[in-house]
Amino acid sequence: MAELSVATTPEFDFETEIDRRGTHSSKWDTLESGFGVPLEDGLAMWTADSDYRTAPCVIDAVRAQADHGVFGYFTDFGPYHSAIQWWMRERHGWEIDTDWILTSQGLGNAIALSVSLWSDPGDPVVIFTPVYHEFAIKIRKTGRVPLECPLRRDGDRYELDLEDAQSRLTGQEKLLIWCSPQNPSGRIWSAEELRAVAEFAARNDLILVSDEVHHDFIYPGQKFIPMDVAAPEHRDRTVTLTAASKTFNIAGMKTGNFIIPDPTLRSAMQGRLRSMDYTPNLLGLKMTTAAYSPAGAAWVDAQLAHLQGNIAAFDAAVNAIPGVHSLPLAATYLAWVDFSGTGMTYEEVDRRVRKEARIAPSPGPGFGPGGETFMRFNLATTRARVIEAGNRLQQAFADLQ
Ligand SMILES: Cc1ncc(COP(=O)(O)O)c(C=O)c1O
Repeated sequence: MAELSVATTPEFDFETEIDRRGTHSSKWDTLESGFGVPLEDGLAMWTADSDYRTAPCVIDAVRAQADHGVFGYFTDFGPYHSAIQWWMRERHGWEIDTDWILTSQGLGNAIALSVSLWSDPGDPVVIFTPVYHEFAIKIRKTGRVPLECPLRRDGDRYELDLEDAQSRLTGQEKLLIWCSPQNPSGRIWSAEELRAVAEFAARNDLILVSDEVHHDFIYPGQKFIPMDVAAPEHRDRTVTLTAASKTFNIAGMKTGNFIIPDPTLRSAMQGRLRSMDYTPNLLGLKMTTAAYSPAGAAWVDAQLAHLQGNIAAFDAAVNAIPGVHSLPLAATYLAWVDFSGTGMTYEEVDRRVRKEARIAPSPGPGFGPGGETFMRFNLATTRARVIEAGNRLQQAFADLQ
């Protein structure tokens, strides 16, 4: 497989192999129990966290707090809110008011809280599939029913089919959960598409929760637009979810945000959070505040260059296997790979990937209708591991060459 010469920034290190086994890493320490992949030489390529260290400015913030040595109750979320405001303006051209921000224990938590607040048990909740599997899981766990509206695959792209979605609605829906940029397809939505979704929500009187956690992984030539920028006229029903968790690999801090311009929606969620005694956590806030800064931005840019190289290396390897196709990514570090051209059953593909290649990806069927023949591979790791994964996959499907 050809080595790639995509530049990475020398002052930041994405190439040192860090052994995460035995560190309580859910990505690595479940290889055997969750995937039947040997811990010894297996490759964890499923859940969306990264294998490299976070930005030096973020580590420094933790060090400063550790040096202080006191981790008691704390107050003054001003710097945290200002850092978020700065990041949204600088990186996403989105002007937000700091009053709009509420903090959750990560976005999985924010999704579950949204479902439980803005729908009732038994309600259908609208999602567009294939999509981040936890949407449907959270909807089911809170006693609601996922109403799965398939995206239409058109070659390498997924397209919205709002007419089809409209025909599936029962009239009982109160909530739509949207993913932008889209996990797992790595699709970025245009302003026109975002407006169409917001209008669909308005037409059907749905609260629109837009999960934008992958918004910092945008590749050259692509433009990400926040829902609130594309459709400000529907702000009275829009709730945006953001976090530094993916961007800076700090998901273990369990810190994410609702950004809610509408005072009625916001005070409802604030009431829910207060009633359950949710409080933001000290290190999550300190780390995010440090991350959303010029130093953090420089690290993210270097990370993006590294990821571009990883994506190119991985795609070159898997696309050389007859019948296997990795969809081009406009965003995210999650390769969405279609094995349908191999003519094999999903079980056989799964056996080869887990048992022969010794790789644990996210199984495509979990992402709902449209994911049946796919697997999702997390490429946020060292280049060496990505190349190793490509080689192993080529060997596992060598009989197709
Ligand atoms: C689209 C999407 N939303 C939410 C999450 C979960 O975010 P958090 O780690 O902040 O709970 C993920 C994690 O993979 C994700 O891909």
